[in-house]
Amino acid sequence: MTHKQEPVDGTKGDVTTHDNAKSWFYTDVVKDHFFHPRHFMHEDANESDYNAIGKVGSPACGDELRVWMRVDPQTERILDFRWKTFGCGSAIASTSMASVMVTENGGMTLEEARKLKPQDIMDRLGGLPQRKFHCSVLCDKALRDAINDYYRRTEQFNHIIVETSRIIDPVSKVTDHDIERSVLEGAHTLELVQQKTKVGIGNPNCLPAVEELIRFYKEKYFG
Ligand code: FES
Repeated sequence: MTHKQEPVDGTKGDVTTHDNAKSWFYTDVVKDHFFHPRHFMHEDANESDYNAIGKVGSPACGDELRVWMRVDPQTERILDFRWKTFGCGSAIASTSMASVMVTENGGMTLEEARKLKPQDIMDRLGGLPQRKFHCSVLCDKALRDAINDYYRRTEQFNHIIVETSRIIDPVSKVTDHDIERSVLEGAHTLELVQQKTKVGIGNPNCLPAVEELIRFYKEKYFG
């Protein structure tokens, strides 16, 4: 789907930067989840009621998200999913929507939840401003971390998936995760990724691999 969250010239968005140079809109669904977050973890909640915990920090902005899951050991469906974040409104709305998606209709199985993509969450929200896409990745990663935690606690080690980073350019030491972060921050061309990371400066041999990764992450996050 397209994400028409940037206002046309001359109109004011929901948010405007201090110098009035940029502004953007949020959909009514995003605002609803921001002002009325679902499945928020309350202060008096008991952690021991949950059998999986996930935690992730965003390299793009430094914000953090924690999630708690209660998984049925028989069916491995997610019966409850709670969360708490020090992230922005988009992170709150994305995580709130993700908490609805993984628990609705009896709850997703862990393997179904693992297939949930940031794009699926954004589609249910009616889109996010492009500069906020990385916020929806935060809840996706915290969910994956909690799924791994459940498998670790239940000693199903063969189900654990660990994402390691790979060096793409040995000269600048840029990894695939650096390129992923650049794409999420809006660098969708080789030139823009190079401006952010310096990848390939002095080592042009790696540029075809960089271009392939840019295509891969654009497809993964933006469809
Ligand atoms: S989560 Fe940090 S800016 Fe949205």
